[in-house]
Order: sequence, then structure tokens, then C-alpha cells
Amino acid sequence: MHRGKGMKFVGDSRVPANRKPNIPKDYSEFPGKTEAFWPNFLLKEWLVGAVFLIGYLSLTVAHEPPLEKIADPTDAGYIPLPDWYFLFLYQLLKYDFASGPYNVIGAFVIPGIAFGALLLAPFIDRGPARRPGKRPLATGFMLLGVAATIFLTWESVAYHDWETQRSQGEIVAEVEVNTEAEGYAIYEQQGCINCHGENLEGGAGPALGDTGLSPEEIAEIAVNGQGQMPAGLFEGTDEELQQLAEFISDPAAE
Ligand code: HEC
Repeated sequence: MHRGKGMKFVGDSRVPANRKPNIPKDYSEFPGKTEAFWPNFLLKEWLVGAVFLIGYLSLTVAHEPPLEKIADPTDAGYIPLPDWYFLFLYQLLKYDFASGPYNVIGAFVIPGIAFGALLLAPFIDRGPARRPGKRPLATGFMLLGVAATIFLTWESVAYHDWETQRSQGEIVAEVEVNTEAEGYAIYEQQGCINCHGENLEGGAGPALGDTGLSPEEIAEIAVNGQGQMPAGLFEGTDEELQQLAEFISDPAAE
């Protein structure tokens, strides 16, 4: 007689008395619906991944991503815009009930409830049915979420000032400016520099480095203004006006 045979020693209730070997489940009741993970399934996954990867690569090569000028932390007038997939959250912050003193509502409470509902959906709606019509809560939440996202994105695109958006980040080619020129001194002295920049790069007014305007047209604008630029800014002699206009039409000239 062997002592202890047929006896079970259990010290820790988490240790099963009868260890089962780690054998994968038998899927033989689904004939033709299974396949080996390696290499068959992984190869398919990888092929799909490669198609998307190459697709995205081709898209980025075909449509170069639009870049703006180098970010300038001193430019307080710049209005940043999120990428398209966050426009709905951005738009939410524009409504009176979700902005200003109610910022917390727009930034945390409403998005928190929406994403929290997504998180809780599997716990709230636990029925076994799979048809959308049989799961009104889950279907309702999802339709509401999709509708709200589409509506907010659309509002944001429709009411955004795209013209300002484009011009505020525009890359302005750096032009060579001859700061020794007589015309540059006049440009400075007449105050054009305040709106059009030290290197004609623009500011409150547009860049003047490459206007393509003739000296006559520039002189005319300097005296009479144009659009947003007031008239009567130039206060000097005709000779100075001529020098100024020639300088702006060809800023690099000696
Ligand atoms: C108060 C700011 C301000 C000052 C100062 C100013 N400008 Fe302007 N300028 C502007 C604005 C804004 C525009 C754009 C006008 C428009 O709406 O078309 C402009 C446009 C121009 C243009 C036309 C540019 C183009 O590509 O069509 C020229 C040329 C010009 N300014 C020359 C001058 C000169 C020369 C002076 C100095 C005498 C001067 N500006 C002073 C604000 C200013």
C-alpha cells in the first residue's frame, strides 16, 4: 500500500486539483470555417494591411499635405483649426450654452456623457438579440452620436472663415530686400513698414515682396489707398513717392 495515494492535498483553493493540459478548442463542428492562424490567417491580414499602407503612401505622394508657414508664438491673431475629425468638438465650443462661462459643459460634460454612453452601452443593453431593430437602446445611441457628429462637422465647415484661415498661414516667399536703398528709408519713414513689415513680408497688410505691380500703380495705392488700406498715408514729395514706388516694385535693386 502506498501512503497518500488517492488523497488530494489542497493548500491553495486557486490551484485546481486536476490540471488540464492546455489543448486548443476543437472547432470541428464548424467544418470549412476555420483555418490555421499561422501562416494562412496572418498572411491574409498582412496582405490587407499592405494594401492600405501602399494606398496611403500613394495618396500622400499624390496630394502633398498642405503646409502653413512656420508657427510664430508671438502671433496672437492666428486662429488654429483642428483637423477635420475633431471639427465637431471644436464646433460644440462655439455655442453659447457650451462656451465662455460654460466652457466646462462644452469641453467636459457633453463629450463626457457622449463617450461615457459609448463605454456603458454594452452594460446597459445586454439582450442577446443582434438585429439593430431589436436593440433600440444601442441603435438609438449610435444613430444619435453619428447624427450629432455629422451635423456639428457640417456646421463647422459651413460657417468657418476659410479665406482668413488660408491667408493667415500662407507661406510668403522670402524676398531679398535692399535695406540700403533710398526707397527703403522712405518706406520706413512713411510708416508703410508698420503694416507691410521690415522685409516686406506683410503683417496687418499683405506682403509686398512680389506684387507684380508697376511703380505707377504702387504710387497710386500709396496715395489713394486701396480696400482696407486707408488713403493719405504717404506724405512726402513726388520724388520720394517715385523712389518709394520703384523700391517696392523691385525691392532687391541697388
Ligand atoms: C494701416 C496699415 C497700412 C499702412 C500703414 C500701409 N498699408 Fe499698404 N496695405 C494695407 C492693406 C490692409 C492692404 C490691402 C488692401 C486691400 O484690401 O486690397 C494694403 C495694400 C497695399 C498695396 C497693394 C498690394 C497688392 O498686392 O495689391 C500696396 C502696393 C501698398 N499697400 C503700399 C503701401 C505703401 C507704399 C505704404 C506706405 C505709404 C503702405 N502701403 C502703408 C495696409 C497698410
